[in-house]
Amino acid sequence: MDSPQTPKRHIVCVPYPAQGHINPMMQLAKILRCMGFHITFVNSEYNHKRFIKSHGPEFVKGFPDFVYETIPDGLPPSDKDATQDIPMLCDSTRKTCYGPFKDLVLKLNASENVPPISCIIADGIMGVIGKVAKDMGIPEIQLWTASVCGYLGYLQFDELVEQGMVPFKDQKEIDEALDLNLDWIKGMSNMRLRDLPSFIRGRNCLKSSAVIINTFEDLDEEGLEVLRSYNPNIYTIGPLDLLGRHFPEKEKGFMSVGSSLWKNDSNCLTWLNKWEPNTVVYVNFGSIAVMTAEHLREFAWGLANSKLPFLWIKRADIVAGDSEDLPQEFFDEIKDRGYITSWCMQEKVLSHPSVGVFLTHCGWNSTLEGIYAGVPMICWPFFSDQHTNCRYICANWGVGMEINQDVKRDEICELVTEMIKGEKGKEIRQKSLEWKKKAIKATDVGGSSYNNIQKLIKDVSSRNA
Ligand code: UDX
Repeated sequence: MDSPQTPKRHIVCVPYPAQGHINPMMQLAKILRCMGFHITFVNSEYNHKRFIKSHGPEFVKGFPDFVYETIPDGLPPSDKDATQDIPMLCDSTRKTCYGPFKDLVLKLNASENVPPISCIIADGIMGVIGKVAKDMGIPEIQLWTASVCGYLGYLQFDELVEQGMVPFKDQKEIDEALDLNLDWIKGMSNMRLRDLPSFIRGRNCLKSSAVIINTFEDLDEEGLEVLRSYNPNIYTIGPLDLLGRHFPEKEKGFMSVGSSLWKNDSNCLTWLNKWEPNTVVYVNFGSIAVMTAEHLREFAWGLANSKLPFLWIKRADIVAGDSEDLPQEFFDEIKDRGYITSWCMQEKVLSHPSVGVFLTHCGWNSTLEGIYAGVPMICWPFFSDQHTNCRYICANWGVGMEINQDVKRDEICELVTEMIKGEKGKEIRQKSLEWKKKAIKATDVGGSSYNNIQKLIKDVSSRNA
């Protein structure tokens, strides 16, 4: 890829401080640094401590032209390795981050050791960062880390209010409306009310001068056309992880700089080696989803009863409230074919040949990672855009099947078996491989995402703070 000529331009990258947002921002930041920019990566103080704990102090020393800074997130200090309360975090970052981020910008611009800031790339739900940029006259671009279909879903809420469909009077009215067909939504297909995101966020993102989205043109053609009618400057540059392959390791370790907030268990990759291709069920509900102890038991016994090998990533805080109590009988049953651990390198797991199906909560990163790995998905969405992603996975892209929200062990057992051994599973695997090829093509030299990152670089390079 081309690199901009010196002098170096300085981009400040500010992710929303949660795992599903930090990962794509880190992937983008690494690519931009490889393309010749000086990068400041801004973590919350809490997450930075967890970075150090997970990766060691060496890692966070940074590399030349890749420097970490921190700002507080406004929540009380904690030493736990746990997911923070997301609604509280949204509220506290909105109220807290303006002052500390402004001070950081002033400090960086006064420093003789770094170039002056030429652009701030902020997460699409960190409106407060955009405000600082605007107030200080610094060009700003937003990174939308969730899905295009999720974004379009958020845009429908005003229309629903106008049509008198929401707010609902009571639960009965909600239950009756869930299967309502929403065919009138431009840019979205097969939508029912139940498939809209469960809450609204980031709706002002399109007002930014440009928006970067971690997707690729073929995947979201219809939806992107509608989003571009609001803002023509949309750069689809995903899957970011695949785009990263154009940057071979020049300095040891730089491209493999990770962004996990939990410590990875790399032994699970060795364990995967012992299984035949497409035979293992991989279960992971991302960094935020929580479930009841009862649902956890249903998942556990569904997997056990299937007699299939499985890798289950079960975060320590996956169960809401009381901790779960899986009996010894379960562990005896699965001992030769079940691997349970608390965090893994998901992209590596998904690209392992033995993984045959991905049981997922449909967070956008997991969805995209499943798509570009060509792994069929079983969907159990939890909140936000995950319901919309689930609908697209099953009804539009044809790469998955959905489980009932009130999940039961027999259904799990039946679905995982069908996906690994059945005809439907074969069909879905075929479709998944087609999408995998399209994702690779988008990031190949001359592909849409490859071209878009070049355009983005030109755009950023021509902006003057
Ligand atoms: C959240 C929201 O849930 C999601 O709907 C939104 O689109 C983005 O932010 P999260 O729930 O954590 O994210 O899910 P997801 O988007 O899938 O992001 C999780 C990330 O953590 C993925 O990149 C995944 O690869 C990574 N991960 C997860 C690991 O590396 N290891 C694990 O064990 C689990």
